[in-house]
Order: sequence, then C-alpha cells, then structure tokens
Amino acid sequence: MAVHSNSIPFLLILALVASGSQGANILGLFTSLSPSHLVIQMSMAKILAESGHNVTVVTALKPPLLHPAVNHIQVTLDEADGKSFGALVADMAKRDTSNAVISMLVAMGSLTSAFGKMADVLRHQKVKDLYEHTDNHFDLVIWEASMVKDQPDPLPENIEDFLNSASSDDGAIFLSLGSNVKAEHIKSDTVQKMFNVISKLKQKVIWKWDNLENTPGKSENILYAKWLPQDDILAHPKIRLFITHAGKGGVTEAQYHGKPMLALPVFGDQPGNAAALVTQGFGLSLSLLTLEEQSFRDNIHEILENPKYNRAVKAFSSLYRDRPLSARQTLLYWVDYVIRHHGAAHLQSPVY
Ligand SMILES: *[C@@H]1O[C@H](CO)[C@@H](O)[C@H](O)[C@H]1NC(C)=O
Repeated sequence: MAVHSNSIPFLLILALVASGSQGANILGLFTSLSPSHLVIQMSMAKILAESGHNVTVVTALKPPLLHPAVNHIQVTLDEADGKSFGALVADMAKRDTSNAVISMLVAMGSLTSAFGKMADVLRHQKVKDLYEHTDNHFDLVIWEASMVKDQPDPLPENIEDFLNSASSDDGAIFLSLGSNVKAEHIKSDTVQKMFNVISKLKQKVIWKWDNLENTPGKSENILYAKWLPQDDILAHPKIRLFITHAGKGGVTEAQYHGKPMLALPVFGDQPGNAAALVTQGFGLSLSLLTLEEQSFRDNIHEILENPKYNRAVKAFSSLYRDRPLSARQTLLYWVDYVIRHHGAAHLQSPVY
C-alpha cells in the first residue's frame, strides 16, 4: 500500500549524521503491517549488511527472511492489533473498487488506524532507546523501500518440478491475490467460480492460498501453496500469465519479467495500478467483487491467445532492464551517495 516507485530503491531517508560511507550505521524502520513490504525491505537490509554496513532494523511483523548480519528488533503488536488489521482488509475487500480515487480514499481512511499502530511501534521503549540514546549514532535512517532482484533465486523443488511439468505449448499461470487478502476475505462463491474456470484450463496453475486444509478444490493442474517466492516464479519461462490483485510489488515484478497480467484489484492503490496496466496494454482487469465464470474465462483466454499483451509487456521489460546500474547497485550507490554528501540536501524536496 505505501508508496513504491519502480525499482528506485528507497523513498524517505530521514536523519543523517555523516561519517564515511564504508561500514556506516544504518537504521531501517520497517514497521509496515503488510508482509509483502517486509520481504522487500529485508532483502534491502541484507544487501546493505553484505556490503559491510552495520544494519539495524525495527519491524512489527516477524520477517520472512533474516540475514544473520542484520540486527533485528521486533516490536510485536498484541494479537488484537493483528486481528484488527485483518478486519480492515476484510472490510476493504468488500467495497466496490471500480473507482480508483474512491478506492484510495477508502484505503486511507481504513489505514489510518494501521498507521497509528506503526507510530506506536516507533514510540516503543525498545525503539526509543535506539534514537534517544546519545551513544547511538546512525549515519542513515531508511523508512520504506522497494526494489526488484537482479537475478532470480532457484525455486523450491516442488514448484520447479511443477512448472517444468507444464507443456511448452500451454505453459503455466501464477495466481496470487497478495499477502493481505486472505481466503476468508473473498466470497466463497467467487472462489468456487474461480476454481471452476481454473481447473478446466490446459495450463498448470500455481495458486497462492493460505489455508491448505481447506482449498478451493482438487485438480491435477493446480498446485496450492501458502507462501511463494513471487519474483522467482514470475521469472520462470513457463509462466505465461499472472493473475494478480495488482499490488505495486507484483505489477512491478511482472513488468520486469515481461509477463502479461489479469488484474483482480481489491483495495487501496490496486484499482489504480490495474487501470494503468490495462492502459499500457499489459493485460486486462476484472472486478473481484462481481467476478463471473464467463468473463473470467474469456479474459484469461484473450490474454493467453492474443499476442498483443505479451508483446507490449515484453517491450516494456526490455526497456526496464536496460539501465546502467542494477537495482542492487543502485541501492548501494545512493545509500553511499547520501551518506557521503551529508544527507544530500540538494536532492531533498523543498516542499517537504
Ligand atoms: C551496530 O549498531 C547497533 C545499533 O546502533 C549498535 O548497538 C552496535 O554497537 C553497532 N555495531 C558496530 C560494530 O558498530
């Protein structure tokens, strides 16, 4: 939900007390309540730690990956807070999101309390000790982040095997509605309609689904999995279509890997992202709230069979990849740059 810019790796660099950029003390305030943000932020922390910086990160959620060289401080939300964030998402998932501006406004209203909780994390004594203690000295504070990996990591074996079992003619589809929308947020008859269409496709389908005890139905062409290396799956050559809630992260990754999309936006910036990708010719969009089998099937076939979507997103992908520095190098370059130039006041927005 929070602001992401295409692969420009970081957004808000707050306090700066400069020393040399080698082995700088860096504090990451990664308090987002959305697990997908944390994946990206932790991979950024890993890159900075691997290049010799002393990186400390504060998180509200348990990070899905934690590099041994990264100092980690977790301020756990109490269970009620965690539940109420789920309830916010459930509520937003029920709203009509056909108007992108209204959807953004609803999300901002709903997320006000989530932002309040993120602020509580920063006010927690454990975190205050970091920034109020006079002995602590950070060269750079990073808040929020976004980036795409340069090279995919190897896939888990079961996923690699499943994708390799897809025929070269038909290929495979990746379906994910993101990390915030849970199975129970979607109407059960919508899930049934999706299953009826998906299970009859010739393609192999990887379907991100949280509750493996209670899946939408069994079918030989479907592999359900709970947590998936989305970027690595999208990189796989067999993937022909990404059915997505159109979160900024997933759309960016699909653009990078040149995979056409069918968007089923749910809340927040998603309807706006979906409208943009349709305008750019990278795919189509349907409302999840009013999803019907016929249009779902027709849209899938249209994207798979009409080469124009693939062509448009592949052309974008080749532009996107053609840059002087990789995402990793861009991150390291700008972190060092900002530290070297004592906060780089000349790049800060005058309106801020
Ligand atoms: C790394 O940063 C943490 C948090 O500020 C600090 O406690 C620790 O002493 C630092 N380690 C080094 C080697 O500077």
